[in-house]
Amino acid sequence: MSEDTNIDKKAKDLLAKMTLPEKIGQMVQIAHSSDTIPEDLKQRLREGGIGSMLNVTVPEINSEIQRIAVRESRLGIPLIMGRDVIHGYRTIFPIPLAQAATWDPQLAKECARAAAREAAAAGFQWTFAPMMDIARDPRWGRIAESFGEDPFLASRFAAAIVRGFQGDDLSAPDAIAACAKHFAGYGAAEGGRDYDTANIPENLLRDVYLPPFKAAVDAKVATVMTAFNEINGVPSTGNARILRSILREEWGFCGFVVSDWRATAEMIDHGFCEDMKDAAKKALIAGVDMEMQSSAYRDHLLELIEEGVISVKLLDDAVTRILRIKFQLGLFDRKPIYSAKPPETPEYENIDLAKKAALKSVVLLKNQNKTLPLSRKIRSIAVMGPLADDSYEVLGTWNRDGRVEDTVTPLTAIRNYLGASAQIHYLAGLESSRSANTSQFAPALEKARQSEAVLFFAGEESILSGEAHSRAHLNLPGAQDALIAEISKSGKPLVLVILAGRPLTIGDISEKADAVLYAWHPGTMCGPALADLIFGIEAPSGKLPVTFPKTEGQIPVYYAHKNTGRPPDKVSLTMMDSIPLRAQQSSLGDAARYLDIGYKPLYPFGYGLSYTTFIYANIRISPDKIRSGEGFKASVEVTNAGEMEAEEVVQLYVRDRTASLTRPVKELKGFERIRLKPKETKNVSFDLSAGAMGFHNSAMEYIVEPGKFDLWIGGDSHADLMAEFQIIE
Ligand code: GLC
Repeated sequence: MSEDTNIDKKAKDLLAKMTLPEKIGQMVQIAHSSDTIPEDLKQRLREGGIGSMLNVTVPEINSEIQRIAVRESRLGIPLIMGRDVIHGYRTIFPIPLAQAATWDPQLAKECARAAAREAAAAGFQWTFAPMMDIARDPRWGRIAESFGEDPFLASRFAAAIVRGFQGDDLSAPDAIAACAKHFAGYGAAEGGRDYDTANIPENLLRDVYLPPFKAAVDAKVATVMTAFNEINGVPSTGNARILRSILREEWGFCGFVVSDWRATAEMIDHGFCEDMKDAAKKALIAGVDMEMQSSAYRDHLLELIEEGVISVKLLDDAVTRILRIKFQLGLFDRKPIYSAKPPETPEYENIDLAKKAALKSVVLLKNQNKTLPLSRKIRSIAVMGPLADDSYEVLGTWNRDGRVEDTVTPLTAIRNYLGASAQIHYLAGLESSRSANTSQFAPALEKARQSEAVLFFAGEESILSGEAHSRAHLNLPGAQDALIAEISKSGKPLVLVILAGRPLTIGDISEKADAVLYAWHPGTMCGPALADLIFGIEAPSGKLPVTFPKTEGQIPVYYAHKNTGRPPDKVSLTMMDSIPLRAQQSSLGDAARYLDIGYKPLYPFGYGLSYTTFIYANIRISPDKIRSGEGFKASVEVTNAGEMEAEEVVQLYVRDRTASLTRPVKELKGFERIRLKPKETKNVSFDLSAGAMGFHNSAMEYIVEPGKFDLWIGGDSHADLMAEFQIIE
């Protein structure tokens, strides 16, 4: 008997023994984080009235709850304990947007594997991660949790992290179930306002927002979580089109679906359900198997069945999916569910991995006059800014179990690195990154004048990104800009390191700096990673997974945009300052852009500098004429033209010049991170297929049309080394 058949039989046999209330109990998930277990909760466990709990972080309580559920209930079904292990449990890795900036899915997989080990030890068998919502609006706080704006890049990370959490054997003691969230279209919220409306044509949903979820399903993700938002008028939690037709019938997903926190009840606020009974009915019919935190299922499913509104089969299908995952997880026999014991300290190899991930995630945005790397023989250095010695903010959003005492801050790491060889002038300059108090400005300028170079650590608090934290203004908060401008008066080389959960509008302030490193929120090993980059132990190699806008008014701005009928790069742009006063009405010669800022972003998708220069040459495509269903190779030679060994992310983009629906000006179709010694040349090749060049038409069919294509390979989405190929009938 195959493993799957064996699991199916176990679930079927157990289901056959269950009463209706016990079946409904499996579909109920509640949070509990206190250090006691109230008697009514114990009673609900004994009655089999709860299938899962989240946030049970007190180890003894976690173990005791499982013991009651198994030893004191009629059927002894273990709970599945969930936790938001988004980018680490005790060891905190860079936020997901930063991990995407490594363009190294394998590394992200290793981070997830490490996090799974720590979370499993703490008594959790389920993480509500990876979040894989495509995010093209940095006002949206949850961009921090995403893998950025591109479906190809996000799909690679989604699949890798699912495999990292779940390992090769889901029943292994250190494997935890992953959760593909938030299904679907959550990142398309209007105005970048969290929870807001998403209007997405289904072919765009399928080409842009769904691919990461399909990649997660193909990677055997155990669970999927519904999104808070509606799509075109239907809340995701009541959306049979996406939950049943696409997720299950088209893709063959056979895990279970959990609602997001109270998302079932929120369908009343959406104006989609009359009351909780209606919400229970519509959520179950749509395909939600388990309800997180609200009580529509607990309070109304039994009566809906007794009234014949809901069939027992619908209920049995949902419970079976839940039981199958519990059996696959080995909860009944393999998982140590009575011995929750969180790691006392982060494991050494996890710390090393956290540093490696942080180091590879940092993006060098500017390096005028080769300011970086700083000399290791520097005699005096100013280390400033509100985030220079902050051990909490750098852990980022959705840090639930990381501890500040584990963090190595930039100041600590720089002190450790330079030792007594240099005088370090430290001054935060502001009590917090949100402070507007300018009283420390003069001393800060003085300390800068006493130093050979200035390192300024600016950014956002972790709470200013993440769930429910969208911002309309994306500048550095507080008086940070003003303080940086003040310090720049010293005339000393100024290195700006920005620690934030999203792209910020840093164009003006970057003018005041000689070099800019974008470090996101890098986690526990923030300091050592930055010290290695600042002093040149390693060269920066991160690349932007999301476009940086010049200003909020430019949003949405992303690289895979359409060309329009008036592409701005084809005309000379009349900027506002050059328009004469009282000018006559004229729209000739203008293009899809802004009079005041043009059309280019501050920094493009895929952008990132190094301490060396990479030269791309000899791009080749073979064969350059292919039929649908055939493959072809594209290759290029990359040379490290500088004096330092370094890594580069080689990126491949294509454009379908003419199609039955307009296509983006560029789409990422391949990338590879390589390491080159000084003067070394490597031939990088990509295996491509005609099938990868398709799109969904208005009938929702995935089609590959014949025609001419452009192909670029380079170090970012503005790559200009180009070749052509053709798909022929
Ligand atoms: C939240 C989030 C979701 C998270 C869940 C449990 O509201 O939207 O991502 O996993 O609740 O904490």
